[in-house]
Amino acid sequence: MSKLLVANWKLNPQTQKVAIALAKKIDFKGVVVAPPFPFIEEVGKILKRAELGAQDSFWEDEGADTGEVSPKMLKSIGVKYVILGHSERRRILKETDAMINKKVLNVLEEGMKVILCVGELKRDLGFKNKDLRIAKNYINKQLQDDLKGIQKLQITNYQLLVAYEPVWAIGTGRNDLPEDALEMIMCIKKILNSKFKIQNSRVLYGGSVNSKNIVDYMKHKDIDGALVGGASVNAEEFRKIVEKSN
Ligand code: PGA
Repeated sequence: MSKLLVANWKLNPQTQKVAIALAKKIDFKGVVVAPPFPFIEEVGKILKRAELGAQDSFWEDEGADTGEVSPKMLKSIGVKYVILGHSERRRILKETDAMINKKVLNVLEEGMKVILCVGELKRDLGFKNKDLRIAKNYINKQLQDDLKGIQKLQITNYQLLVAYEPVWAIGTGRNDLPEDALEMIMCIKKILNSKFKIQNSRVLYGGSVNSKNIVDYMKHKDIDGALVGGASVNAEEFRKIVEKSN
């Protein structure tokens, strides 16, 4: 299976015009483009090869929930993937695992794919064994809480994706050692398999990915792709990342 590259545009760009221009330049096979909500529909009309994603969705389908967007709404405009539990939402908007869990269930029930972000807050690279063990425990807890109840759903193959994003590596230029990222990703796959009976999932790496370091991650067959933030709003840089990934 080829690698999946997710372009998480976050709060960029500022106008629909720029969003459309950017989408045209990164419309590649094997890419998911996740624009801010106001641009999703128009970007979706542009994409011929890439698939459409959203950066979040709410856990209710309808009701008195000012400012929220439901999975049903996103599905109706062609969204295929929804990113959930991103560390920026956990940190800035105080999203809890219980909230993320409800969101995950709602998107899966709607038949769309979830990209669930997990990752430890800090890790001292100097203390490899002890530190990786602490990080694994942290992530195990996130997965248990965020995926509670999914065994009851009939989810299809590859409907659940996980992005391993060590929080200390996001937007900092301090990307994880590829071997450590691989070890964490193998641990995530093991948890998905043993605790949730999910064999067919994809686990991506995210955190300061760029065209210079992408090969170091993608050369490992068990790293199924990357979630790219900052570098995904630079069309030329993102094109190089895609080219070097497969
Ligand atoms: P970054 O962001 O590539 O800018 O580190 C990754 C992410 O937050 O998804």
